[in-house]
Amino acid sequence: MKKDFPGWKPFGVTPPKFEVIHEPSRQNTRQSAHFPIQVMNRYFRDAETFAVYRYPHPGSHSIIIEAPEESGLTYGVFTLLRLLASGQSVPAAGIRETPAMPIRWTDEWDNANGSVERGYAGRSIFFEGGKVRDDLSLASEYARLLASVGINGCNVNNVNGAAPFLQPEMLAGLARVADSMRPWGVHISISVDIASPQKIGGLKTYDPLDPAVIAWWTAKVNEIYALIPDFNGFTVKADSEGQPGPASFGRSPADAANTLADALAPHGGVVLYRAFVYNNHLDYNDLKADRARAAYDIFHPLDGKFAANVVIQTKEGPIDFQAREPVSPLFAGLRQTSQAMELQVTQEYTGQQRHLVYLAPMWKQVLDFDLRAGGASTPVKKIVAGAAFHRPLGGMVAVASVGRDGWLGSPLAMANLYAFGRLAWNPDLTQEQIANEWTRQTIDSDPVVVSTVVKMLMQSWPTYEDYTGFLGTQTLTDITGSHYGPNIEASERNGWGQWHRDDAQGIGMDRTVATGTGFAGQYPPEVAKMYESLATTPDNLLLFFHHVSYTYKLDSGKTVIQYVYDSHYQGAAQAAEFVDEWAALKGRIDDKLYEDVRARLEYQAGHAIVWRDAIVQYFLKQSGIPDDRGRAGHYPGRLEAEDARLTGYKVVDVKPWEDASGGKAVSCAEAKSCSAEWTWSGAAGRFDIAVQYFDLQGWVAKFTFDVNGKPAANWAADATLPSRRLHGDNSTRYTLHGVELKPGDVLRVEGIPDGSDPAALDYVEISPPAQRNATVRANTGTQ
Ligand code: GCU
Repeated sequence: MKKDFPGWKPFGVTPPKFEVIHEPSRQNTRQSAHFPIQVMNRYFRDAETFAVYRYPHPGSHSIIIEAPEESGLTYGVFTLLRLLASGQSVPAAGIRETPAMPIRWTDEWDNANGSVERGYAGRSIFFEGGKVRDDLSLASEYARLLASVGINGCNVNNVNGAAPFLQPEMLAGLARVADSMRPWGVHISISVDIASPQKIGGLKTYDPLDPAVIAWWTAKVNEIYALIPDFNGFTVKADSEGQPGPASFGRSPADAANTLADALAPHGGVVLYRAFVYNNHLDYNDLKADRARAAYDIFHPLDGKFAANVVIQTKEGPIDFQAREPVSPLFAGLRQTSQAMELQVTQEYTGQQRHLVYLAPMWKQVLDFDLRAGGASTPVKKIVAGAAFHRPLGGMVAVASVGRDGWLGSPLAMANLYAFGRLAWNPDLTQEQIANEWTRQTIDSDPVVVSTVVKMLMQSWPTYEDYTGFLGTQTLTDITGSHYGPNIEASERNGWGQWHRDDAQGIGMDRTVATGTGFAGQYPPEVAKMYESLATTPDNLLLFFHHVSYTYKLDSGKTVIQYVYDSHYQGAAQAAEFVDEWAALKGRIDDKLYEDVRARLEYQAGHAIVWRDAIVQYFLKQSGIPDDRGRAGHYPGRLEAEDARLTGYKVVDVKPWEDASGGKAVSCAEAKSCSAEWTWSGAAGRFDIAVQYFDLQGWVAKFTFDVNGKPAANWAADATLPSRRLHGDNSTRYTLHGVELKPGDVLRVEGIPDGSDPAALDYVEISPPAQRNATVRANTGTQ
């Protein structure tokens, strides 16, 4: 019967993927000699394959979901649901799928106390008060969510400070977490601290080659598997950002990884050893020092030395989840080692879910990037799937850091979790296709809704990049703090190595082999050659690889400095457009969802202006070169708070200076209430009035705005933004729309501080009413 079904191939004919381990070239290597059968059984059984098809019998109306194992059936069921929910039916040829890569995990950076590192959606779904939560219903729901997009693993704890997770009481709790996720085919792993044998085991050392340490890990792993038989394994962050590691004993990452791998192998477990290892005390004055080089310098020489059940987990770019980076050269530098690509769903450097940034287009660029290893086609997606270098394991891991506040906090940010799962399953899908699927299933299939949301998602990453950095400088954020608002010099003159090296003449890191750090030479020759030369480096990575003057001309003919001005004005304008585009969906989608996203987009449009102004005024001052279009440094309609008639308010410097208009704000630190007053000297008419203030974390200052003593608006500074001092992180805008003004009118803002929030003000800005805002109310509270 099956042979009548077009396209059908019975299960079992696919050659097993582990065939590659018999390749002559790897005979007698550690992998072929010791590849554990338990790991093979676990990862190469094609267990996740499924088929969905109409029963090929005339007159039959059955739809069949067929799979050799339960996990495949789960994916088959969710695939059918996806078709139905997006208004499609089972195609005539049926669907038959096998995931491209065996490892498709999320990493959750949850701490035992219930906080989540780089999480922007509330507290942990797994932990609270130092232990596993009694109620794990969210963990179970999360597993269902993950399974629905093809994700099969979840590492539940932070890569930092992981030692307590190996304590017996915690392991018993983790067994409950595993039980809650298992029904959905999601298996757990944990991050471990390499110093655990000493920190919690009472040994005098954690040298990975010490026999007592090896015995400790073996016993610990056995203890885990007695509780969690399908445990996935360990993730390791070592010798990085203060975490202990094998370097303390003169041992290599391979020594540490293999000790863990040998303990896990009999149980079928794997080690995901992170390549995010670098020295965060680099010398800024050393023009050859370069953090970007670290992963390749450390891990490439170890290629072939890792046990077969070790997977090197490498961030997509050589620095750290920036809005723009080149692909990590390490992907081409490990040909005898299994690899996984690590990316971030939680938007640490990309707006922390308060900004709309759909990341699938960025991930696709990485996955499709052809590293030309050995002069042949080797796109990253083939490398991490294990196909390019015939590796037995491989995958994609996303740091999701979900929380109790709707998983990611922002409804549209869920498109990123969805996209991660879909791409790990099939990296050939396009970003548009994924956005389309997601919108239909999650919001609505109404064509207006689909086209609007897909367009916004597709524009969002370029827009964010436009207003937060440029030409490969990386995100110009506060890198030693929140990683959220602008702080251009935070990246410079410290040991963290996220430098862009700007001065009065020019900007950029020279990473060439000829005159720079040599990073460009870590790529295979064809790619290295492209980045070595200014002429062939794409503009969007120009300053990642080269130091140039502000007057250097880009391919477009524009100078670098003019590009800085234009892109930031363009990005902020596009962020404002999103508000408009979304407004067209009012009444077409769920009201609550509409309102939630509208408020976020209005906030984003305001914060994009903070970013724009910070970067533009900083580089205007630094370069001394004016904007051809006269915008930089000129803010028509802006009335600075420091120029107002102040009662109670005192003028203060904002640090960094570029985060406030003119570098200054007014602060009400010493009174119960303060006010700032201006007299309008412009023409009569209707205007939009934006009040720019600082909403400090932890307290709720209050504001009122009146015209000639008549109240026009009042609102509370109650957002939860980073930072407890005046900063671009918390510079926020409240906009009143369509206010009538005539010359001589007195505009007054009153601020009532709360705790350490001094109700600080930056400026008010008066502009002709934007048509786009005609139907949109003020961005927070009511007018
Ligand atoms: C970033 C992030 C840290 C995290 C680190 C990592 O630097 O800011 O919070 O610990 O990455 O990936 O280990």
